[in-house]
Parts: sequence; C-alpha cells; structure tokens
Amino acid sequence: MDSKVDALGVADTTELKSCCATVYQSEWARVILGDSFHPGGLALTEHLGATIGLAPGQRLLDVASGQGASAIRLAERFGCTIVGVDYGDESVRNATAAATAAGVGQLVTFQQGDAERLPVADGSFDAVICECAFCTFPDKPTAASEFMRVLKPGGRVGLSDLTRSGAIPTDLQGLLAWIACIADAQPLDEYARYLREAGLTVNLVEAHDDALAAMVREIQGKLLGAEIMVKLKKIDLPPTVDFDQAKRMARAAAEAVQAKHFGYAVLTATKP
Ligand SMILES: C[S@@+](CC[C@H](N)C(=O)[O-])C[C@H]1O[C@@H](n2cnc3c(N)ncnc32)[C@H](O)[C@@H]1O
Repeated sequence: MDSKVDALGVADTTELKSCCATVYQSEWARVILGDSFHPGGLALTEHLGATIGLAPGQRLLDVASGQGASAIRLAERFGCTIVGVDYGDESVRNATAAATAAGVGQLVTFQQGDAERLPVADGSFDAVICECAFCTFPDKPTAASEFMRVLKPGGRVGLSDLTRSGAIPTDLQGLLAWIACIADAQPLDEYARYLREAGLTVNLVEAHDDALAAMVREIQGKLLGAEIMVKLKKIDLPPTVDFDQAKRMARAAAEAVQAKHFGYAVLTATKP
C-alpha cells in the first residue's frame, strides 16, 4: 500500500474511501458545509460549467457528486444530461431525492461507484467535472486515466481542487485532514501533470484562493454555532464529533491559507 495511506491508521485504500464517503454523507457535514462541499460553492460550479462549454443535449459526468447540488445546478443552468457518481450510497440516495425535488430528475441521475473504476462506458461523455475530491483519491493517476477513458474525443475535463505549496504542516496531516481534502492536496503543477500523463491537453489554470479563505472562515463560524446548538440540545450530532479537534484543524487551516500554503484552483483539459 502507498506509505502515505499506511500512515493514516486505515487498513487499506478501500477503508480510506469508505471513511471519506461516510463523513460526507453525515448530518455533521451538512451542518458544517451546507449542500455544496467545495470552496466557491455553486457560483464556482457554474463558472466551471461555462468554462468547459456545457450546453443542452450534452452528457456530463460529475465524479464524486456528493449531495448532488452541483449536478442539479448545472442541469438547471445548462440543460445538459448529468450522471453523478459517488462512493457513498447514502449520498447517492440523498442526491437522487434532491434532483427529483428540484424537478430535474429526468436530466440528472446518480449511481454508486469509485472514481478509480468509473461504472460507465468508454467514450460516453462530452464532459467530466470533479470538484474538491480528486485530492482525496488514493490513486490519482488511475482516476485521471478514468476521466480520459469515459470522454468522447474532444471531450472536456473541469477539475477544481485544493492546492498546496510546500510541505503539509504537521497539524494538518492524518485521516481527518485527508478527508477534509488537505493532507493529500497537490501543488497546482502536479494536478496538471496527472491530467497530461493521462493523455489530456491542459487548457486553463485559474487560482481561486479567496474562495478557500472564505470557506475556511465560514466553517470556523459554523463550528462555533454547531457546538452551541449541541450544548443547547437543539441539534443532535454523533458523540464521535470532536469539536476541539475540528476547531484546532480549522484554525491551523485558516493560518495555512493566510500564509498562502494552501489555495484553490480550477483546471480544464481536453481529450485530443
Ligand atoms: C469534498 S466532497 C465533494 C462533493 C461534491 N463534488 C461537491 O463539491 O459538493 C468529496 C466527495 O468525494 C466522494 N469520494 C471520495 N472518494 C471517492 C471515490 N474514490 N470515488 C467516488 N467518490 C469519492 C465522497 O463520498 C464525497 O462525496
């Protein structure tokens, strides 16, 4: 096994992916993050969709689709057909219900699957997006090759993810930090390299660091709010939620973002 994964105290990469999916489909994630689990929220998702030229009639694959908020918004805005794939089966159920409630159930469907072995046919999509999740995939070269495999020739990839410069601070290592997209965040050039080595042509790289700074501030505020609500017994969170650990990590993340050790970026690429 990858020695970085080995150091996280999980048995293997399957357990790592399950832990990640379990956290993001929990009530706790919704309380702290809302429905859209990435910096920049749905405004950045719409920007990503416009940048890769989504249009009615096209087929889009959303890899690691979470609660489905991005897929639903992109269907509403661009009228394309969207398949969302996520490791968490409860996320898939929640996203399916949300698409029906939003009235886009005929355009948007979700299924359980692994980004490293996408459950869809070769050459079957016009575009692939992956927001704030590529950094959590243990086998990034395989995930990038999967994007390439499922695209039609001329198909586009829109990736948005956490970037780092320099080493990861000690406070931001470990399983929770990995799941929070921090511990295996890559330098911007590395994301471009994964895409290029999969055979894709990288077209555009954009920094959106302010979106990350705003999200970390928002999380810090929501953590304080959630702690008060739990103490007042207004919301119920699992006893496993450790507010002190989460607040320590959020503080360390805020400092690292301020020091420009972490940022957020959008990359787009094309299948030749
Ligand atoms: C930070 S959330 C992002 C969700 C969504 N893209 C968004 O921006 O709202 C990360 C998501 O990646 C999913 N995930 C993690 N590893 C995965 C894998 N190997 N295959 C598919 N989904 C995965 C998790 O279940 C979670 O829903």
